[in-house]
Amino acid sequence: METGSSPFLHPQYEALSRPEIEALQLERLHDTLLQCMKSPFYRKRFAESGISPQDIRTLDDIVKIPFTTKQDLRDHYPFGLCTVGLDRVVRLHSSSGTTGKPTVILHTRKDLDQWADAVARCLYMTGLRPGDIFQNTSGYGMFTGGLGFQYGAERLGLLTVPAAAGNTRRQIKFIMDFGTTAIHAIPSYAGRLYEVMEEMGIDPRRDTRLKTLVIGAEPHSEEQRRRIEQMLGVKAYNSFGMSEMCGPGVAFECREQNGMHIWEDYYIVEIVDPVTLEPVPEGEVGELVLTTINREAMPLLRYRTRDLTRILPGECPCGRHHRRLDRMKGRSDDMMILKGVNIFPIQIETVLMQFPELGNEYLITLTNEDANDMMTVEVELKEFHDDYQRLQSLTREITRQLKDEILVTPQVRLVPKGSIPVTDGKAVRVKDLRKTLI
Ligand code: COA
Ligand code: AMP
Ligand code: ZN
Repeated sequence: METGSSPFLHPQYEALSRPEIEALQLERLHDTLLQCMKSPFYRKRFAESGISPQDIRTLDDIVKIPFTTKQDLRDHYPFGLCTVGLDRVVRLHSSSGTTGKPTVILHTRKDLDQWADAVARCLYMTGLRPGDIFQNTSGYGMFTGGLGFQYGAERLGLLTVPAAAGNTRRQIKFIMDFGTTAIHAIPSYAGRLYEVMEEMGIDPRRDTRLKTLVIGAEPHSEEQRRRIEQMLGVKAYNSFGMSEMCGPGVAFECREQNGMHIWEDYYIVEIVDPVTLEPVPEGEVGELVLTTINREAMPLLRYRTRDLTRILPGECPCGRHHRRLDRMKGRSDDMMILKGVNIFPIQIETVLMQFPELGNEYLITLTNEDANDMMTVEVELKEFHDDYQRLQSLTREITRQLKDEILVTPQVRLVPKGSIPVTDGKAVRVKDLRKTLI
């Protein structure tokens, strides 16, 4: 692997001109369409919509292809979108959820290889090189930020520390003992790291070798990025990814820190109006729709990410012609992101409704005291109870079942019937009161 002084890790792909990128995309799209025909799901989809892979002659023809949604993945859980024999699948990542159907993404060995390459490219683009010590604070296991960054950083030749989530004091000990130079953390956890460093009397600028932070997985502002940089004495690079597109490595900032280059030799990018699903004018905000063009086990065509963003106009001085996504502006659905974990209100409702003691009304409140995100779930009791011990054990059981479902620990409060306000007949289910603390 070329890891010398070139500004590109993979010049044959990173330095492509626009016409070269588009020619490669069309070639790879054709291969992908043929691959999709091996999945019962896409065969049926194409038959229903009366199109065949041969109808896609130019990149503009992509709009003839029906969208793929998260619901499609759920409805065909677990292997319905697989295009290869399971004997060729070597890894599976899955979203949380025991009550509803989760989603599953499958990878062949080649898929994992391509993914590691993409992440390596991203890290190289921020200036990391062999000799750097990269500490990953993502959860491992099903969270793609764990293994995704692990294999990408190893591919680049970084000394990679799989510290995983939590244990902040131990994370800081690693930073000090190993001389960590780069960290991957979600923005809110970067704040937590700083808070605990302060408690420990450590000045990150003076006492550590930190210089690079990779931040992603949750929305954050430019202001928040600059504060993180000041606190920790690092350059912080925005990183966008999602499990359905492998995980991290989809789009990343270069040294210019001005928008995230999306690897267009991996993905065809569209921005559509989330209501009409028509393309928005160039440069306007809409929903990001991605088509994978180099995946084997589970290619996805026109996947509705539900993330709202835009393509930044103009060329980047770094020399890459892969277009840049602006930082994410929000979602076109009700998904919440807490502690780097994606949660849908319906998951919470489904757990609550299984308890006969509970009424129908509930309120989810998100707060962030002391750089720690917290979810409080208030839920009405169906009837008046004065058995304190019974209420305590019910609260514990609801908390346990919610944690199983959503992977974070909520604070559960049982409240009397009628105490959750219902306005105009419609309850407000989620209040996000999180402030920018850092
Ligand atoms: N990354 C790293 N550590 C995190 C974190 C995150 N996103 N969110 C919370 N933590 C830390 C907390 O600071 C705490 O450690 P500390 O007390 O030593 O500071 C510890 O994890 C437990 O957090 P807590 O809020 O008490 O637990 P929880 O049960 O609600 O949450 C987690 C459980 C943290 C294990 C779960 O939220 C998780 O795995 N998050 C990581 C998600 C992730 O990696 N996403 C992918 C990013 S690409
Ligand atoms: P997951 O599938 O768990 O990796 O979560 C993917 C989702 O996390 C995306 O669809 C986004 O909503 C969110 N996300 C990932 N990266 C970023 C980022 N850099 N900025 C804002 N949101 C992000
Ligand atoms: Zn650039």
